[in-house]
Amino acid sequence: MQGTKAAIKETGRELPHILVVDDEKSICELLEITFRKEGHRVEVANSVDAAKRKLESQIFDIIISDIRMPGEDGVDLLKFAKEIAPDSFFVLMTALPALDTAIAALNSGADRYVIKDHNHIDQLRRAVQEVSESLRWKKEAGYLRRELRRLTGLDNIIGQSPKMRAIFDLIQTVAPQTSRVLITGESGTGKELVARAIHENSLRAQAPFITINCGAFPETLLESELFGYMKGSFTGANENRQGLFQAAHGGTLFMDEIGNMSLTMQVKLYRVLQEGKVRPIGSTEESDVDVRIIAATNKDFEKEIAEGRFREDLYYRLSVIPIQLPALRERREDIPLLARHFLERFRKTMEKPIEGISPEAMGKLEAYEWPGNVRELENTMERAVALETGKEISVRVLPERILGYGGAAPAAQGIEIPEEGVDFEKVVASTERFYLQAALEKAGGVRTRASEFLKITYRSFRHYAKKHSL
Ligand SMILES: Nc1ncnc2c1ncn2[C@@H]1O[C@H](COP(=O)(O)OP(=O)(O)OP(=O)(O)O)[C@@H](O)[C@H]1O
Ligand SMILES: [Mg+2]
Repeated sequence: MQGTKAAIKETGRELPHILVVDDEKSICELLEITFRKEGHRVEVANSVDAAKRKLESQIFDIIISDIRMPGEDGVDLLKFAKEIAPDSFFVLMTALPALDTAIAALNSGADRYVIKDHNHIDQLRRAVQEVSESLRWKKEAGYLRRELRRLTGLDNIIGQSPKMRAIFDLIQTVAPQTSRVLITGESGTGKELVARAIHENSLRAQAPFITINCGAFPETLLESELFGYMKGSFTGANENRQGLFQAAHGGTLFMDEIGNMSLTMQVKLYRVLQEGKVRPIGSTEESDVDVRIIAATNKDFEKEIAEGRFREDLYYRLSVIPIQLPALRERREDIPLLARHFLERFRKTMEKPIEGISPEAMGKLEAYEWPGNVRELENTMERAVALETGKEISVRVLPERILGYGGAAPAAQGIEIPEEGVDFEKVVASTERFYLQAALEKAGGVRTRASEFLKITYRSFRHYAKKHSL
């Protein structure tokens, strides 16, 4: 036992647990000593019956069993093991090499078949080594998968505001389905994070999640990226290449910045969505693709459609389930939560003993407009953690634009409430109207421009314009 512990310590991981089954006691002893020396935990059984009892009470990574034994034989044990412990690796040994037993062994699902000759110990050793390696990989892959899920799952999307809670509910409802999702929201609101969370919580979680930034490619390149191409179909096509649609088969394709896609590509994409088939450039063959599309954009689709830059038919195909992510300033109650979340993260990676955020600094963070949304807050916190030398994040490490920000509410000094009071709704409405008119004038009557001057979406502009009959 001493040796076992030492070996485990040395390698820093636990070695496979082995069961040796043979009616010949000397063989059992030899194998037991051999593998114990290497640091394994080893159990022996001298009959199939004894082995079964061990299998019922313990978990083994490897079972090494003789074939010929009185009573039930090794193949019977193998069948039993496949039922009760299908993950364990099974090695059958035989003293008499006979073709029929070898075939029987492999047919019944043995992982290895070893003949007991002068070097069978070496062969067994090698098999055990291979299993150790693959167990280690399995463990690591499982760990990585769980870690990835933790990083991309819902837990990692921070927010407690009613708006974010509604988004979480929506994600959970739509994830298991295969319907297309269109995520809209300003830059940095977490569109990619949400797309990943949908994939990770879907039945396709084990299949690929592939991202393409449609805004980053010129038209022809985007087409070959998405659909693939055949050798010789254009200069530079030196080999057949599959496209991202084929690569994402069975999984999810996240098409980011879809609002930047050219009209010609939009037609091609529409056809793929309509028919569920993809044809690589230069090929005459179409192939079926089963891909869930999640698209995202930070553009205002109504405006893009109104101005002829996005096809309405494609928009309806894509937005079976629309998810609109709120800007950070529309859910200010999440700012402290997010700020602390990022503080926690950067303080760990930068190994700094910062314990919190001063009330004054938090006040500034909460008052700011955050045009870059969560991403801007994340960057701000990273910078603040890097610069801070004290125990808490102070205003000194916040950027000028945040410190100098006047806050959303203009100073109340300019406003006077007369004795008889004011008609609040009317005053505000007329102010709204003034601003709309002024913006329209400045924009020379172009509504989309006017909405930009007012920093509202075209959709909101239309809403206000209708309200004031402009
Ligand atoms: N609710 C959230 N909780 C925690 N982190 C978030 C949240 N929303 C966004 N983030 C983080 O902010 C950054 C920006 O998010 P993401 O890339 O998903 O935004 P986006 O909407 O795709 O932006 P863009 O339109 O600029 O591509 C990422 O680092 C992401 O992890
Ligand atoms: Mg993005």
